Parts: sequence; structure tokens; C-alpha cells
Amino acid sequence: MKSVNIGLCGLGTVGSGTFNVLRRNIEAIQSRAGCTITIAQVGARRDNPACDLTGVNVSRDIFDVVENPEIDIVVELIGGTTVAKDIVDRAIANGKHVVTANKALIAEYGNEIFAAADAKGVVVAYEAAVAGGIPIVKAMREGLAGNNIEWLAGIINGTGNFILTEMGDKNRDFADVLAEAQKLGYAEADPTFDVEGIDAAHKLVILASLAFAMPLQYDKAFTEGISRIETRDIQYAEKLGYRIKHIGIARRTEAGIELRVHPTLIPNKRLIANVNGVMNAIVVKGDAVGPTLYYGAGAGDEPTASSVIADIVDIARLLSRDSMPAVPSLGFAELSDKPLVDINDVTTGYYLRMLADDKPGVLSQVTTILSNHGISIETMHQSEPEESETTAEIVLITSQIQERELLTAVSEMEGLETITGSVHKIRVESLG
Ligand code: HSE
Repeated sequence: MKSVNIGLCGLGTVGSGTFNVLRRNIEAIQSRAGCTITIAQVGARRDNPACDLTGVNVSRDIFDVVENPEIDIVVELIGGTTVAKDIVDRAIANGKHVVTANKALIAEYGNEIFAAADAKGVVVAYEAAVAGGIPIVKAMREGLAGNNIEWLAGIINGTGNFILTEMGDKNRDFADVLAEAQKLGYAEADPTFDVEGIDAAHKLVILASLAFAMPLQYDKAFTEGISRIETRDIQYAEKLGYRIKHIGIARRTEAGIELRVHPTLIPNKRLIANVNGVMNAIVVKGDAVGPTLYYGAGAGDEPTASSVIADIVDIARLLSRDSMPAVPSLGFAELSDKPLVDINDVTTGYYLRMLADDKPGVLSQVTTILSNHGISIETMHQSEPEESETTAEIVLITSQIQERELLTAVSEMEGLETITGSVHKIRVESLG
């Protein structure tokens, strides 16, 4: 039987998960790959007590792995876009195949990395970069290949979903839940990537390229995180029949491709609205298949290892047959630039929350402004904050309206003497 040598770079959460699952399931994995798979070298600055490295060739210099002529597949699990990029670049230059879980690297540098890999005739596989253990890259590149994708919408950051779920269900403090997510190994090294939507934007950009045959364009994605969501927004949304989720949306429209990540109210009857905790889910709407839903653990050591190892098996199958990959990196033989829709031109519903003087006529001032801008109200709720007898909190959900028009109406509302502070707004999607 042919033998394939793996060089594992990084022994953090995903690296240790990959090491342990490879060891534990080696029989099934080799049987699927049709060859022997050996962890020939590990490159890690320090050991991880979760891994028994007895008898393993460990190098403290990670670059030893990419220079090792015995290594066939370099598995980059370091993260970030500095050392990790050098590792991947060197591995490709040395004619090695690469498996990575690094969404930032693929979203920001994927175009040049795939071009370099093509030129060298090697594969760069990245299933684990999007939605952890969910095999969404394979589903989009292969399983949905007969479709024109119309839109996709996903909960693609486990940490953010964990935080929103815990805040809503248990009234927990934002910082306290984030600290737990860090302890559990869900959060990024820099957790602002999770709470400000950067991590989700990285993944969305990859999904959009897989859906719409376009180059990766991370710098053009509209990105808004969950740090401004308050527990009472989650509670109001619940009263109105919605859940607040941090969603990445890519949609084909006549004007171009929408590419946006932001907190979103979703009707609570949708399956995706009921995806809680660290779980991820992605709805992909194809013209032939209709809506399809992919659900699973979006972060964590062994779920992510599951995707990393699936890529290793794919490449090992090629190596054991001496054939070239039949599936292009982004699923299409040719990519073309498509216009992206500016967020101001996007049309959605809106949840608006404002603090208003509790006196006659205030509500009609608000509704007049909305109606002057052609915005109708789908549903409304008014409550008296505990700390005040003179103000009321008004919460309403609008019909579909272009963002530009909505922002003008909101700024007129904020100019009313009867409205205190700013109007809090969250986009609403029916995802029907
Ligand atoms: N920080 C990421 C998340 C890890 O919470 O989803 C997986 O990409």
C-alpha cells in the first residue's frame, strides 16, 4: 500500500484535535484513503498536554516541516496571516499539498495562494476554514454543482451564536459568556474577530466565491458584529416572533452580489432561527434543489479536525492513484468579477428601538416620518422602561425598504425632540 506523510504545523485547539482523531481513527481513515497515512513530523513551538507525542518527530521550528522532503501534505493549523502564510507559500513552492483550517488566510490571500498552487500542480484544501465540522465546501463545490445558487445565509461564527444564545436564554453578561467561549476553545486568538463579525466575514467571502464563481473579495464585504446587541433586543424580538442571529448573507440580485454580515432578526419558525449555542448552520438556496440546510458544530477541536482529516483523505486518495484533482479550488474552472451591491442599496426589513417621551402625538410623529419615506410598519410594541415614568420604549418592525431610505428616516426620527438618544436598528430577513 502506498504511504502518505503528513506534516502537522501547530498543536493548538485544532492541531491537537487533528492529531488525536487521526491517531484514534487511523484504521477507518486509511481504509477510506486507500493508503497508509503517517504523521511524519509535527511542527509546534510547544507541546500540548492533550497529545501523546511519544515517538513523534517534533520540531520547534515549524519551517522544518515544509522543508522536510519526506512530507507530502503540510497541514497548516497555526492560524493568522503572517507565519501561516509563509508556511503555506513555502509548502507550495516545495511542491507539497496543503490542508488548512485558516479562513483569514483563504479569504484574504486565497486568490494568490490558489494561483500559486495551480502553477505548482498541488492542492490547497480548506474545508475546515468554513463552519468547522460541516462539510459545506464539499457540498457547494460538488453536491450542488448542478444549481445556480440564488442565495445563502449562515450562522457561521460559533462564538457569536453561543453569546447570543446564552444572553437570551440565561440573561448572562456578554463578557462572561465570551470568556467561557475562549476557555472552550471556540473563540479566535483575538476575540474581536468573533464579536465584530470579522471571522464570519472571512467565511462568508469564501462561501460567496463558491456560490457565484467570483474571486475572493474580503475587503468588499459589509461587516457588523454583535457587540451592540443588548439582552432587551433579544427579548423584544422574541415577543414579536423573531430571534436575533448573527448572519452572513450572500445573494445574487439584478444589481450584483450582496455580501454582508450583521445581526439579523429572523422569524422564529425558520429552522435556522433555532440553531443555538456554538452550532453553525447554513441555508443554501439553489434554483434546482430549492433551500438546503447544513447544520453542525462550527468550532472546537474534534469537529474542526473532522474537516481537516476529510481534506487529508481527499488528497491521499489522489496521491495513492497519482492523479490530479478534478475539482477546482473554488469549484469553477473560471472566475469572473461581478459587481457587489453597496450596503446602502440593499433592501431588507428593519427592527427599530427608540426611547420616546410618553405623551400623545409622539407615535404619530414617528409613523409620519416612516410613511413619508414609503416605509410601512409590520408590527409594533411599546413598553415603559422600569426606571422612568415619562419615557416609553417603542419597538417596531418595518416592511422591506432600501437601507439608504431607512437611514434618512432614522436620522429624521433622531432629530425629533421627543426621541432620546439614537434609534437602535437591526436588519430583518424572512429567509423564506
Ligand atoms: N472562532 C470561530 C467560531 C472558530 O467561533 O466560529 C471556528 O472558525
